[in-house]
Amino acid sequence: MYNKLMGCLKSVREKTDFVPEVAVILGSGLGEFANEIEIVDTISYNDIEGFPVSTVKGHAGRFVFGYVEKTPVVIMQGRVHYYEGYPMQDVVLPTRLMGMMGAKKILLTNAAGGANENFKPGDLMIITDHITTGVPSPLIGPNLEELGTRFPDMSETYSKRLQTVIEVCAKEFDIEMQKGVYVQFTGPNYETPAEVRLAQIWGGDAVGMSTAVEAMVANHMGIEVAGISCITNMAAGISKVQLDHKEVQETADRVAENFKKLVAKVIVNM
Ligand code: HPA
Repeated sequence: MYNKLMGCLKSVREKTDFVPEVAVILGSGLGEFANEIEIVDTISYNDIEGFPVSTVKGHAGRFVFGYVEKTPVVIMQGRVHYYEGYPMQDVVLPTRLMGMMGAKKILLTNAAGGANENFKPGDLMIITDHITTGVPSPLIGPNLEELGTRFPDMSETYSKRLQTVIEVCAKEFDIEMQKGVYVQFTGPNYETPAEVRLAQIWGGDAVGMSTAVEAMVANHMGIEVAGISCITNMAAGISKVQLDHKEVQETADRVAENFKKLVAKVIVNM
């Protein structure tokens, strides 16, 4: 796996010598932000040898390199999901690769279902912690000693410092933030009402199909992690209507302006 990562890094370095400070992964329906930064370079995932390529509609599938004010960033416009059929190590390869490009901090974003009944569609949630019980750990297999330790601590996977940064930035724009625990399921199906009740009993506030495993490998290699969920719908059983991707997209579109403002501010201040 480390050789595969080094191969991907070599492939990237043949195309750009850009060194990011911050990495960003843009979630479903939130990818437009990448078009608004001062772009220096882009690399399509197809052009990186050995890189897993996303198949979901609405995921552009490229790295965007550039600046938000003075901060050098690499943005993943479109991520790789476990439900696409890749081994979990491939799902988290891009996160590790951005770390190997030089990123010291990462902002993870996603669309998620609200499991906390006090939430409403359109809310933005600061991820304070996560639960991945039910999805395989991306750290299973030989440990990549070059990146981190065999038994990494996960007691502050989402940096408290960065949680405060997000809160302060949101306040400046008068954007109200929720806070909570993200529960990752495999997807691609939405959860059953019973699974959402399980997530609630576990202490979960939002459910989704990504992010937590990325946070784990970032944490493993010493990258400071921040996470924001866009609550695009209430989760199954709470929502009175059947779930479909169109609702997710529509809510993401509705909050896009606030989301983009917030993400830009957070990047500059993290
Ligand atoms: N469940 C899982 N993932 C999601 C949801 C949901 O309700 N909404 C957006 N992504």
